[in-house]
Amino acid sequence: MTEHWDEILMGEHRVMEKVLTVLVGQAKKLVDGGDGAKEARGRIAKSLDFYETFMDRCHNMKEEKVLFPKLEQRGIPKEGGPIGVMFIEHQKEREFLKAIKVSLGADESESVLNKSKDFAELVKDHVWKEDDTLYPMGKKVLSESDAQKLVTGFDGIEKELGKGVHERYHELAEKLVNGTCIEPLIKNLSTEVLSAILDTLPVEVTFIDAEDILAYFNKVNEKKYFARPRAAIGRKVQKCHPQKSIQTVNKLLDDLRNGKKDVAESWIDIKGRKVHIRYFAVRDSHGKYLGTMEVVQDITDIKKLEGEKRIIK
Ligand SMILES: [Fe+2]
Ligand SMILES: [Fe+2]
Repeated sequence: MTEHWDEILMGEHRVMEKVLTVLVGQAKKLVDGGDGAKEARGRIAKSLDFYETFMDRCHNMKEEKVLFPKLEQRGIPKEGGPIGVMFIEHQKEREFLKAIKVSLGADESESVLNKSKDFAELVKDHVWKEDDTLYPMGKKVLSESDAQKLVTGFDGIEKELGKGVHERYHELAEKLVNGTCIEPLIKNLSTEVLSAILDTLPVEVTFIDAEDILAYFNKVNEKKYFARPRAAIGRKVQKCHPQKSIQTVNKLLDDLRNGKKDVAESWIDIKGRKVHIRYFAVRDSHGKYLGTMEVVQDITDIKKLEGEKRIIK
């Protein structure tokens, strides 16, 4: 299915946000100096190249040459309105990129860091305004035919840029993000909060580590479909199952471990409720097997849903 115009642009925003973490993180390394500084310098230069091409020459042009004119045609004001603000912010982004390049060339690492931080704030704020306000406004005023023309217009911008350029910059972003140590968002959570989140999930979760040892389950003190004693923690999962099912358990874990499967499922009836049981292979960003997660969910009420309920009361 072809992506909708706002999905395309928001998808690009997500890539732009990820590379911001690289830019600021590497600028910090540059300030720290030492062995990592040379590598950091190279990654900053590549990040700037990414923003000049992917963000400014491609993404911003899709907006300035295709989206914004269509929005204006449909009555969203430019001067003194949201489109005018977006134009001003695109110009500010360009000025920041030039200024960071100048500082990088002059070896002024503190200035590279400060300007990169300001640039990151500007971009984050800008994409937030577009995602949250301008695009939803656009969706209200644009017809389905307008929407299709936008997607064709976006393709035109990518062709103008050159064959494969847009994809190459997607790849560059991936390389920059995966090649640098990005702090995971989970660091924002304490064990207490993380535990509460896992207990609030509307599913029963059990985690068996890479050595087949039962390492975790949520909702310890709650009524569950598959209650487990705390004493089971630390035991080999094969020891928690009756002898006759060991072969099935081993086959399942091996398939998930070896990548033959990423997920396996079954569903059963318990006291008139439909219960969905899934086993997911858990892997790190390099594909290394970390364990298996069992997810048990009562889907009785979900199965009954029909139509839509768009307003949450
Ligand atoms: Fe924009
Ligand atoms: Fe944008």
